[in-house]
Amino acid sequence: MIKRFFTWIIMVLFVSLGLQAQQPTRTIPDVSPVLLVNDPLSIEETIFYAPPYLQNPVDGGITVMWQTHVPTYSWVEYGTDKEQLTVARTLVDGQVICNGLHNKIRINGLEPGKTYYYRVCSQEILLYQAYKKEFGATARSPFYTFRLPDEKETDFTALIFNDIHKREATLNGLYDLVKEIPYDFVFFNGDCIDDPATEEEALYHIAMQCKKVNASSHPVFYLRGNHEIRNAFSIGLRELFDYVGDKTYGAFSWGDTRFVMLDCGEDKPDSTWVYYGLNDFTGLRQEQVGFLQKELKNRAFKKAKKRVLINHIPLYTQSTREAFHPSRDLWEGLLKKAPFDVNISAHTHHHAYVAKGEDGNNFPVVIGGGNRLEEATVMVLQKKGKEMTLRVWNGKKELIYNIKL
Ligand SMILES: [Fe+2]
Repeated sequence: MIKRFFTWIIMVLFVSLGLQAQQPTRTIPDVSPVLLVNDPLSIEETIFYAPPYLQNPVDGGITVMWQTHVPTYSWVEYGTDKEQLTVARTLVDGQVICNGLHNKIRINGLEPGKTYYYRVCSQEILLYQAYKKEFGATARSPFYTFRLPDEKETDFTALIFNDIHKREATLNGLYDLVKEIPYDFVFFNGDCIDDPATEEEALYHIAMQCKKVNASSHPVFYLRGNHEIRNAFSIGLRELFDYVGDKTYGAFSWGDTRFVMLDCGEDKPDSTWVYYGLNDFTGLRQEQVGFLQKELKNRAFKKAKKRVLINHIPLYTQSTREAFHPSRDLWEGLLKKAPFDVNISAHTHHHAYVAKGEDGNNFPVVIGGGNRLEEATVMVLQKKGKEMTLRVWNGKKELIYNIKL
């Protein structure tokens, strides 16, 4: 009887120890992650939600964003030499922004044309009190690289996806078609994180999409489509990005090419009952009249060798002439003579090409496809020297447009 009792005690001990070994604990020893490769869950896996993603690579700076599973104090270590790193962190009103799950850290004063190494670091905060703080383990990401172009640089390659509508298989299929092409940055031209209900849902898809296009090393521009304005988390979505100029529309230069991004808002009038009076995109579109007027006179725009206009809802097509088209009504006067080389749009789920002049457009218009792989498209906008080209593949691996711009 006594022997059986001891055998039972030993079994209980084994089972409980085994369970403890499998569960990640919040208190993790601060040791090099390299030593933990055989552990069930490394410090990095316990702390980081996903790899970092680069945003807003303008004006000699870039924003590094990432999220964590636990509250942390986070910073970025960066430099042109991995042995001589500078620390960047977010300070507001003299205080480090920490003890949360979201990290948005701006690095400024970067030298164009130089390759920078960086890694993100997050130290768990176990206790944050007025007079006492306790810290846990520090997770460090691998080193990634980025590079900002010199203003005279002539070459770039950008990938453009649109209307993914959170379909992982569509993005995977499209990316497979272009993955051998080296690229500098990526646009998601709207309706890619559609109708986000919760932060959890939005984060999952941003992480999935950013990981797919390797946004840790290639900056990503998320343009807002009409579906990013819908559902409960649509209001919070902007916190997961760092928009150029902190607005959903804006302009930036990549080398000697100027990009202008416009936000067309919703695709129905503000008075439509499903919006419950909570939208004023009439005002937002009007605001962009002023922005466009200013941008078209801007020195950076004028001296650019090529100019690209990108927006989600098409401004030019026969269908928009007959339907609700407030953006066109407001902006077409300004765009009539604007020297853009191409306008890239999305939204209709039917790819299309509108030749210059066909619909009052002063530049060719290319509209991307839909969300099912068979009808979806991926675009490669490339500039080499003075020549800019736009190639568009559909999900059936067919090169449907190959346009010299
Ligand atoms: Fe759309």
